[in-house]
Amino acid sequence: MSIQFRVERTDGAARAGRLLTPHGPVETPVFMPVGTQATIKGLTPEQVRTLGASLILANTYHLALRPGDALIRDLGGLHRFMHWDGPILTDSGGFQVFSLATLVHISDVGATFRSHIDGAILELTPERAVEIQENLGSDIAMVLDECPPADANREQLQQAVRRTIAWAERCQKRHQSREQALFAIVQGGLDQELRRQCAEALVAMDFPGYALGGFSVGETAAQMQAALPECASLLPHDKPRYLMGVGRPEDLLAGIAAGIDMFDCVLPTRNGRNAQAFTSTGVLRLRNACHRRDPAPLDSACNCYCCQHFSRAYLHHLFAAEEMLGPILLSLHNLAFYLRLMRQAREAIFGGTFAAFHARCLRQWGHSHD
Ligand code: GUN
Ligand code: ZN
Repeated sequence: MSIQFRVERTDGAARAGRLLTPHGPVETPVFMPVGTQATIKGLTPEQVRTLGASLILANTYHLALRPGDALIRDLGGLHRFMHWDGPILTDSGGFQVFSLATLVHISDVGATFRSHIDGAILELTPERAVEIQENLGSDIAMVLDECPPADANREQLQQAVRRTIAWAERCQKRHQSREQALFAIVQGGLDQELRRQCAEALVAMDFPGYALGGFSVGETAAQMQAALPECASLLPHDKPRYLMGVGRPEDLLAGIAAGIDMFDCVLPTRNGRNAQAFTSTGVLRLRNACHRRDPAPLDSACNCYCCQHFSRAYLHHLFAAEEMLGPILLSLHNLAFYLRLMRQAREAIFGGTFAAFHARCLRQWGHSHD
């Protein structure tokens, strides 16, 4: 078996678990820093590890286009290429094709598109998505899926669910690697009947893990959060559950409360590069003039390298001067914040106090907690 998963404790629907991968253990709930181009932007692998990251995410679409999955395979695989010896999950590329490529054409065969890098016309089939991820050598691969936008009508959602199921079968058939687990992805938008159909078909195919895709695609956060408990309950209790591309800290807590184990999102790093910090008292924008003379650390409740050594005034200065250390320090801090939140959530689940922890976080971040 390429992975093993055990739910160690539950608290309501929330779960604390342990996922064993060929590159080491992962304690859940887990947040995966996003390393789209085989790098967590601006940070060394040692820095990312020191922040407490265990599992990280990389993208099939970007790496297949550049530098190429065969090249990475020939150089010893993605772990060696990027000097990350912990577990890696790769997304299958479908979602990135829809959001980044142009001239996208989807048929039952797969997706053809024009590369956003050099304009070449390329094809991504379920079989090719598996081949790329086997070449990369990730610990967890994702099936190719079709992720429709939030404004898709029922017919389009239905078509995406049909294709996602058919593509999952083809991915499973093509998948050979014994050192890699292949996870399925449930689509269906906000239509619970389609979600149920999709989940039932995929669960019958017995994948080692299941993702909820098609969230954070334009629906409101309230709509997403409301749909999560039922969507999560459609998945097997004894397999890891992954909510793809989500989200803000409050969305992660809503996901954990619904029984989700794994998350990834570009927000901590992307927003960090844009001078936005997640803190224990809410979001801060470091470009704002109010920070110009502020000697306080970014977050007095944070013990990260940034908060130990630098003032808000200095961070404000770095962004005003467009110095690269600004984006680096805020990426570092934001990831420290996300990863600490997951550890605290896990502890709260073990202590049977997750609901109280959840409410306290929302209150401190300045949200109502109804
Ligand atoms: N990342 C965020 N959402 C999705 C999704 O629906 N499918 C895939 N493959 N990746 C995602
Ligand atoms: Zn910090």
